[in-house]
Amino acid sequence: MLTRFTTSCVTLAAYMLGSEAVALVDRHASGCGKQHSSGYNSNLEEHRLVSKDVLRNYTIYVPTSYNNDPQKQWPLIIDYHGNGGNGSQQHDNSRYDKYTDDYLLVYPNGYEEHWQGPSYAVPGIDDLQFTTDLLAHLRTEYCIDDERIYASGKSNGGGFVDTLACSDNGNEFAAFSMAAAALYTDLSVDGCPYKRAILESHGAADNTIPYSPTKSGSGGALPQVADWVRWWAQRNGCDPTQAEVVEKPGYNHTSYSCQGANDVEHYKIFDLDHCWPSSSGDNYDYENPRCDDYSLDFTPVVLEFYSRWTLSSAPGAKDWRMWKGD
Ligand SMILES: *[C@@H]1O[C@H](CO)[C@@H](O)[C@H](O)[C@H]1NC(C)=O
Ligand SMILES: *[C@@H]1O[C@H](CO)[C@@H](O)[C@H](O)[C@H]1NC(C)=O
Ligand SMILES: *[C@@H]1O[C@H](CO)[C@@H](O)[C@H](O)[C@H]1NC(C)=O
Repeated sequence: MLTRFTTSCVTLAAYMLGSEAVALVDRHASGCGKQHSSGYNSNLEEHRLVSKDVLRNYTIYVPTSYNNDPQKQWPLIIDYHGNGGNGSQQHDNSRYDKYTDDYLLVYPNGYEEHWQGPSYAVPGIDDLQFTTDLLAHLRTEYCIDDERIYASGKSNGGGFVDTLACSDNGNEFAAFSMAAAALYTDLSVDGCPYKRAILESHGAADNTIPYSPTKSGSGGALPQVADWVRWWAQRNGCDPTQAEVVEKPGYNHTSYSCQGANDVEHYKIFDLDHCWPSSSGDNYDYENPRCDDYSLDFTPVVLEFYSRWTLSSAPGAKDWRMWKGD
């Protein structure tokens, strides 16, 4: 006889660091009720886990009012840094906590500062499994709203968000967003089996991951960004020629409504190089003078995008839940 579980009843095995025990953890409840220091915590010794025998770590922002109601479930953003960077740098780049105090914000550190996908990443490092292990670990420590888990990233980290969107491991995420994504793992429309809520921004003057590459990047072949956006529209069930394009000063905004309103969104920023777009210029990337295009403030755009998606309403959620047997 088949036993059916709803998503909320699924239990996950989690290996607890520093203990021999394997704990069975309820997806929802276990981290609820624990107190945590609020604000940005960058002490890596306090935020470690083992994934596939490798010691990994992350930094975290805990909302100011986190301890007021220990049973409140918080939405979560996992934000992946660029190649050669680190979580603290990405925190200074996207600065979600400057715009909202309503999310747990987690900044994992890549192994040797890379994420899997490009040829320069360390062979054998499985960041998809790390992401799944990180979520299991976070659920034991924090009170997380499983309906509202989101992935964010820049460059190599943005490309990894796309890799995640194209994998089973991405099924725990309601929406995916990225800036200047290095899309090394996504080179054809049929290379990815999922429908997802996808948001990307890309500078037309990007010299690292060009908008219209004419040769391979440092990590391998890259797609034309405009093609890749159309692939997502097609994957989500849209006619890829039916984009809605809105011209704004300094950028074009392209969107498709396929599985829901504006489930594929793209910003092409005309004079921007390889940067997380900011209109105030006070984020990490804008220390680089090549980033002096102030036409779009991307972080509030991402937060608005996330606010429209939950795991249940996400494009394709029904398909992969059926496939998983939920
Ligand atoms: C993270 O990167 C920033 C910027 O490059 C650097 O100043 C900082 O020391 C790095 N932090 C760690 C923990 O490596
Ligand atoms: C954090 O992880 C990075 C990447 O694996 C590693 O280089 C660094 O030593 C770790 N730091 C701590 C304190 O665990
Ligand atoms: C912006 O969109 C308009 C309308 O589709 C198009 O004519 C124009 O070429 C686009 N600009 C760029 C730089 O892609």
